[in-house]
Amino acid sequence: MSLQLEGKHILLGLSGGIACYKAAELVRLLVKDGATVQVVMSEAATQFITPVTMQALSNRPVRTSQWDAAEFNNMAHINMSREADAMLIAPASADLIAKLAQGRADDLLSLTALARPIERCPLLVAPAMNREMWAHPATQRNLRQIAADGAHVLNVGTGDQACGETGDGRMLEAAEIRDELIAFFQPKRLAGRRVLITAGPTFEPIDPVRGLTNRSSGKMGFAVARAAAEAGAEVTLVAGPVHLPTPRGVRRIDVQTAQQMFDAVLPRAGQQDVFIATAAVADWRPAKLADHKIKKQPGQAAPAGFELTENPDILAAVGKLAASRPFCVGFAAESQDLAKFARDKLERKRADLIVGNIGAATFGQDDNTLLLVDKAGERELPRNDKLSLARELVSEIAARMTPTTTP
Ligand code: C5P
Repeated sequence: MSLQLEGKHILLGLSGGIACYKAAELVRLLVKDGATVQVVMSEAATQFITPVTMQALSNRPVRTSQWDAAEFNNMAHINMSREADAMLIAPASADLIAKLAQGRADDLLSLTALARPIERCPLLVAPAMNREMWAHPATQRNLRQIAADGAHVLNVGTGDQACGETGDGRMLEAAEIRDELIAFFQPKRLAGRRVLITAGPTFEPIDPVRGLTNRSSGKMGFAVARAAAEAGAEVTLVAGPVHLPTPRGVRRIDVQTAQQMFDAVLPRAGQQDVFIATAAVADWRPAKLADHKIKKQPGQAAPAGFELTENPDILAAVGKLAASRPFCVGFAAESQDLAKFARDKLERKRADLIVGNIGAATFGQDDNTLLLVDKAGERELPRNDKLSLARELVSEIAARMTPTTTP
């Protein structure tokens, strides 16, 4: 997959807290994704993790004091914040958040946060503290204040805390913070839009141990869900049986069968701005579900009375909605004549856009090639990893949305 933070320079601030141990992994992940990272630490942070560790991982001298004479003009707070594409404070302690809320600047970290050009160097804050400190009205008030001042405050996790208590206030894991940062840099082309997505295969049970399914991995649909969420949409993902983690910020509904997928989608579709059907829905299901395992009979070609019946077509049903029909996007997995079959689906399913791909070249793969087919014509999105393609698709969808569906 392409480097998600290539060309980005991140100013990573650490304030004091046990979550400093996660900052080592965080800087490693940011560098691995192509970012350059300048670390600045409060004095308290140096009690939890050494600047030597952070220097070795970031490959740059770590800044800890506004009085450090090593800086050519003795203005590290100005220089660092002018170079950065974003400042990320992780961990952000309760005390540091209080300082930010008040605009105090009595150490290099808070000074740099205050001195940064707000428009050019956005501030992301990953809080980390004990649950009582987190829940305290003063902390919550300070968080509201820094958000009102333009900071992007990340969620906290829930669970065991270093103090032995359990609750809210844990810093997000390093990989989660990296993903939040990547998402932050994506253009917000679907801000305020509601997007419903189906993904993965369906599983149509034959008896308690067997079923009909297909080789869809769900990777493309999950990438589309992630890309739509990164673009600022409120995303609901209806997923068939897949082994994939839910993209951050996405609401997920798990289903097994085509009928369950239909039942999850139809009541919600009318409240959406966009419906994207990436699921490889089974066209047929066994007409009757056997209560017990069907036994093999010698010489019998197929089980007695085994019949298939047609599944409902989810995309076509949403395409037919009369009132408040969302912008409908379908996928076509073909083995030949992609453009022809995609255009045929566009009309038959009353979709606004069909995304064609060659089945064998996409199922289970990490990359793909897409052919976009709509009323206006065709456009190929050349071979790329599925997340990059999903982001391109999201921007193509955003560009086609009519002003009448603007919230
Ligand atoms: O008919 P076909 O399966 O080739 O069409 C593919 C498109 O229709 C995909 O977008 C798929 O998610 C959607 N579909 C559906 N319900 C079905 C069958 C397909 O939503 N029962």
